Amino acid sequence: MEDRPINPSLNSPVTHSSPEDRSPVLEIIGGHRLSGEVRISGAKNSALVLMAGSLLCSQDCRIRNVPSLADVARMGEVLSALGVKITRKDDALEIDARHLSQSKAPYELVSQLRASFFIIGPLLARLGIARIPLPGGCAIGARPVDLHVRGLQAMGADVQIEHGTVHACIPGVNRRLKGARIYLDYPSVGATETLMMAATLADGETILENAAQEPEVVDLANFCRAMGARIRGAGTNTIVISGVPSLHSVDYAVIPDRVEVGTFLVAGAITQSELSLAPVVPDHLTAVIAKLRAIGSEVVQETPSRLRIVPGTSRLGTDIETLPYPGFPTDMQAQFMALLTLSEGDSIITETVFENRMGHVAELNRMGADIRTKGNHAVIRGVPFLTGAPVVATDLRASAALVLAGLAARGTTIIQGLHHLDRGYDDLEGKLKLLGAQIRRVKGDAGAESVSSLPVMPRS
Ligand code: EPZ
Repeated sequence: MEDRPINPSLNSPVTHSSPEDRSPVLEIIGGHRLSGEVRISGAKNSALVLMAGSLLCSQDCRIRNVPSLADVARMGEVLSALGVKITRKDDALEIDARHLSQSKAPYELVSQLRASFFIIGPLLARLGIARIPLPGGCAIGARPVDLHVRGLQAMGADVQIEHGTVHACIPGVNRRLKGARIYLDYPSVGATETLMMAATLADGETILENAAQEPEVVDLANFCRAMGARIRGAGTNTIVISGVPSLHSVDYAVIPDRVEVGTFLVAGAITQSELSLAPVVPDHLTAVIAKLRAIGSEVVQETPSRLRIVPGTSRLGTDIETLPYPGFPTDMQAQFMALLTLSEGDSIITETVFENRMGHVAELNRMGADIRTKGNHAVIRGVPFLTGAPVVATDLRASAALVLAGLAARGTTIIQGLHHLDRGYDDLEGKLKLLGAQIRRVKGDAGAESVSSLPVMPRS
């Protein structure tokens, strides 16, 4: 494949969805068993922050095992806008940030990708100044950045928010952040990553307390250490970073995507199919595997990096509460809700991480599920079957839940709002097709026709 600069417009589909929207839709004919092996891609939530971390380095970096996603393309555009040279070759990104020149990130890009706000840490540490538009809220919550800002202020940065932009600069001549002891009111993944990156080039030691422990935080710490950073304790709630004057080039591979793994494990359970998945880091999925076993599926570790899901004879209800890692991941909540709609008995899901992450409930109920919500609780009463229907995805993980429900449903499901799916899943429908799923992406019009021709499934 020839070297080519990143151009997201090639990757990212249109951005709105409503009944008269004619964007591509997914058409799924459900009720088919799946079988075979899935190749898992690199982790979106690691690749994005490693790309931000490459700004710390005044030499070139290679990041491998990078998934092909709209969000990755968008982050590439943000880096290019700052004067970074970035090219993609197969699943590797060649990033050269030595010519980093801009300290201001364009609003039209940051507003489309919240994770791009995390560049504020490395940009400030590298240039002594950073001006990043506030990312604003999204479908799942207000998503404030107060913990990021307060942490940078604790390291000596002067941070003002004016006209929707965060202006951060380091006063004084040497324009270097100072090590500090920072207690995070909430173990925010993004704030931990932003502050850890900023601290790598700071003067002195920084201690992050009540830090996030997610595997993506550990992957970022390992990436920075491979560039010469001095970081201890990543993966625990206390991270210690001893600042160094500069970092050097690196060649690093992103960890497998634990949320993609979890999504395919649920695909096996919801279609009662046996599937193998690799590469996987099983330890990253402890909470997910525990819940699958509670529901009645068996998850077998075939090798250190391969898992197999073996469906049980029954699917039992269970209660789930989302929590920061190592608790049950909020990014798997919607997928498990789809699975629990077909369980025997009742289940309660409590979403504690984001205040508005139940957008999939109404769409699952359109498919015949029986879900009632109250605040951040959802009560799911298991039903014997789901029926295909036209549905609209409201956010990334909601779109995955609708695909899973469509695979299990009787009849045809048409999913609109695929721009959500394309943000975070690397060719999901291609991988499902290889497993025997009846799934295809069709023009909106074709989708509309097939919706109107859908037979209405009488409830037995
Ligand atoms: C990361 O988002 C992930 N995104 C999210 O994945 C994931 O859901 C989330 O962590 C939790 O695991 C990326 O890594 C790019 P947080 P992040 O800061 O860092 C509040 C997906 O589906 N908060 O841990 O933005 C916040 O409002 C996405 O792949 C503050 O109050 O999450 C939320 O309620 C969705 N102030 C909670 O903390 C702050 O300054 C957790 O947010 C920061 C966060």
